[in-house]
Amino acid sequence: MVTGFVSFQIVMDFKHPDGHTVAIMLPRCSLLVMTGESRYLWTHGITPRKYDVVQASELGQKVRTITADVGDLTLNRRETRTSFTFRKVRRSPCNCIYPSVCDSQKGQQRLVQPSFPQNETEASKLEQEYVHKVYEEIATHFSSTRHSPWPQIVEFLRSLPTGSIVADIGCGNGKYLGINEDLYMVGCDRSKNLVDICGEKHFQAFVCDALSVPIRSGSCDACISVAVIHHFSTAERRLATIRELARLLRPGGTALIYVWAMEQEYKNQKSKYLKENNGSKNKDKEMNIGTAQGPLNDQGPDNSNQDSAWSDQRLNDFKDESCGAKPVADFRLPVHTNRTSFHSQDLLVPWHLKGGTKKKEESADTVVVPSGSKELQELSPVFHRYYHVFCEGELEAVCRSLDCVRVQKSYYDQGNWCVILEKL
Ligand SMILES: C[S@@+](CC[C@H](N)C(=O)[O-])C[C@H]1O[C@@H](n2cnc3c(N)ncnc32)[C@H](O)[C@@H]1O
Repeated sequence: MVTGFVSFQIVMDFKHPDGHTVAIMLPRCSLLVMTGESRYLWTHGITPRKYDVVQASELGQKVRTITADVGDLTLNRRETRTSFTFRKVRRSPCNCIYPSVCDSQKGQQRLVQPSFPQNETEASKLEQEYVHKVYEEIATHFSSTRHSPWPQIVEFLRSLPTGSIVADIGCGNGKYLGINEDLYMVGCDRSKNLVDICGEKHFQAFVCDALSVPIRSGSCDACISVAVIHHFSTAERRLATIRELARLLRPGGTALIYVWAMEQEYKNQKSKYLKENNGSKNKDKEMNIGTAQGPLNDQGPDNSNQDSAWSDQRLNDFKDESCGAKPVADFRLPVHTNRTSFHSQDLLVPWHLKGGTKKKEESADTVVVPSGSKELQELSPVFHRYYHVFCEGELEAVCRSLDCVRVQKSYYDQGNWCVILEKL
């Protein structure tokens, strides 16, 4: 698609199905060629208004994204604009890689099946790329959004006897490590950057994988694992993580596990995660300050109605070298639209990194960046984390398959499935 602007410069807005927006200044006498994602996945338009906010230093210079450099922004009054758009119209069936926004494929969307890792190597590769690497890169921003502990987890920790030894497996920024000073708590996490943040808060934490925790068997009175096990990409690995958690417990010791639920509407109640789909208002806030909350604190989408849950993204599509992303095994996973219901149990959830630039060789996914907007990628890269969201009964069933534990309690808490296990 080609659009030419002859008479007057103007700002065109692009919007990704996940809510990400980009404003691009189009100078007078410029020609804009839209291909690939910018043409098919993103919507674009010219918002009716009298003035555009533009980069003062680049006024009338070249096609470019409007950045957030407030020192360099100015208002530009619109005048009469003449533009010509040329589109090629396809007359044959379409098989593009954007089924969620493709008119020809819309009716067939449900036929597109995700594909999964087939073995341990593939699974750990997927998790390395779409869990560990991501947490490492978003650690500071992620941590800045994690300050409110969830009440039922606090209650569990406060109910433990003084002097209990407690391990927090996948402790993140150590949100729970200081909840009860009468406990001896130690955290561990795969992300070194998050473990460093725990250290800065003077908490005991170390780097390790939840599949293999270097703590002696039977040495813990209690364990917690909050919003971690849903990051494992096969049923075997999820089971193995729970088995490892149980190994740490002494007989009679208890473990509290939280995972994200497929059901974000339960007993006619929407979870906080869904309720926060209120446009941009609370986009960057903690999901729920001071009350129970879901494990994720992703920035929500704006009010895009587009269901991109089935906008399957072949992970190999990320191998655009110009954007520094690395290829991984050939899986197909749907990309979730934040703060909407889930349509698949295995999916990629976008994280919009705020307040951090990244080095060029690092690996923000390339999915939301229209060709040619490298600056934007550096300003606000989007990462994708892999999740397996659990259906009702699934977590409990996995736990019940272990002989060494008993399920003491199983419940739903704000979009999460939760169990308390007791070591036999
Ligand atoms: C959603 S965060 C939850 C953090 C923390 N439990 C909380 O409630 O704030 C998921 C955490 O799990 C960690 N994680 C993911 N996979 C892991 C693994 N295989 N072993 C250890 N930690 C892992 C991540 O690094 C991240 O800190």
